Amino acid sequence: MQSIAQKLLLQCEPEKSHDFAIKWLHRTQHTPLKWVYSQPTVQKPVKVAGISFPNPVGLAAGLDKNGECIDAFGSMGFGFVEVGTVTPVGQPGNAKPRIFRLPEKRAIINRMGFNNYGVDHLVNQVKASRFSGPVGINIGKNKDTPEEHALNDYLICLNKVYPYASYITVNISSPNTPGLRNLQYGEALDSLLTGLKQAQETLCQTHGKYVPLFIKIAPDLDAREIDSIARSLVNAKMDGVIATNTTLSRDAVQGLPHAEEAGGLSGEVLTEMSLEVTQKLAKSLDRAMPIIGVGGIHDAKTAKERLNAGASLIQVYSAFIYQGPALIRTIAEAL
Ligand SMILES: Cc1cc2nc3c(=O)[nH]c(=O)nc-3n(C[C@H](O)[C@H](O)[C@H](O)COP(=O)(O)O)c2cc1C
Repeated sequence: MQSIAQKLLLQCEPEKSHDFAIKWLHRTQHTPLKWVYSQPTVQKPVKVAGISFPNPVGLAAGLDKNGECIDAFGSMGFGFVEVGTVTPVGQPGNAKPRIFRLPEKRAIINRMGFNNYGVDHLVNQVKASRFSGPVGINIGKNKDTPEEHALNDYLICLNKVYPYASYITVNISSPNTPGLRNLQYGEALDSLLTGLKQAQETLCQTHGKYVPLFIKIAPDLDAREIDSIARSLVNAKMDGVIATNTTLSRDAVQGLPHAEEAGGLSGEVLTEMSLEVTQKLAKSLDRAMPIIGVGGIHDAKTAKERLNAGASLIQVYSAFIYQGPALIRTIAEAL
């Protein structure tokens, strides 16, 4: 049943399939129909950043941008679910079409541009969810907020999601919001981290709980840049780093239909690049904070490789689109 649904969804226009699947999961997640996609959660408990995870395989950000299907994804056996990216105010994102499949390489190019209903809607969804595993909330900035006021957008989101998140991811690596990736460098990064950390301290006192802050970085970084980011993260006492987002590189898909579409490339063509970033990051961080590995993980081997490279948890997106819920169990059982 699952694989028939999977095949049908892969025949349709990508965003239509996505919207249909999200609506269907949202409507069925609290009904008996959830048997179609439910499977036992593999128990491989790990503790990372003070949080207990039933297993280390999570759903990456961007699939459930509005947090509407947390329980559906939870019942598929994910060890944790990351929702968002969410912005202070809802926004439509870029013009369609904006998702492209490159099935020859089991890859995806997207330029969604943080389409979402805004942070208040997401908070209501998280509050209504029943999933017992960790829920990460990924926050971003609105497209029309100038780069120099980015911190303000992150703080608006941070304040609103803090009481409801297991961890919060600060996304500074989407290639589809102009200027966002500039926040990964030098002074812009340091002042962003200082502002976020100060807010976290205040929120911790207000709510009586410490919610870890993770930063999500791009794969398009050289060794020197990774080292410099690592130093900033350690100085700021960040709680973890998610590596990586999608890539701007097209080397691995040259000549394929849609290869020249603008946006971020993900899937099996990203495996090596993300792995290398994880390796370099692990070396620079020297265990100062946990790494969450994401990018091209598509089977037990690539998942194990990422953990061996220094990641404590992993996430999947594109491979889940191509392979469906069975992938979660295959990976979790092998770890
Ligand atoms: C259609 C699509 C939308 C995405 N949206 C987001 C997002 O909103 N926020 C984010 O941090 N990452 C987003 N990502 C990136 C993924 O979370 C992940 O980092 C990336 O796709 C690499 O993993 P993968 O190769 O397993 O897909 C998106 C990816 C895709 C394919």
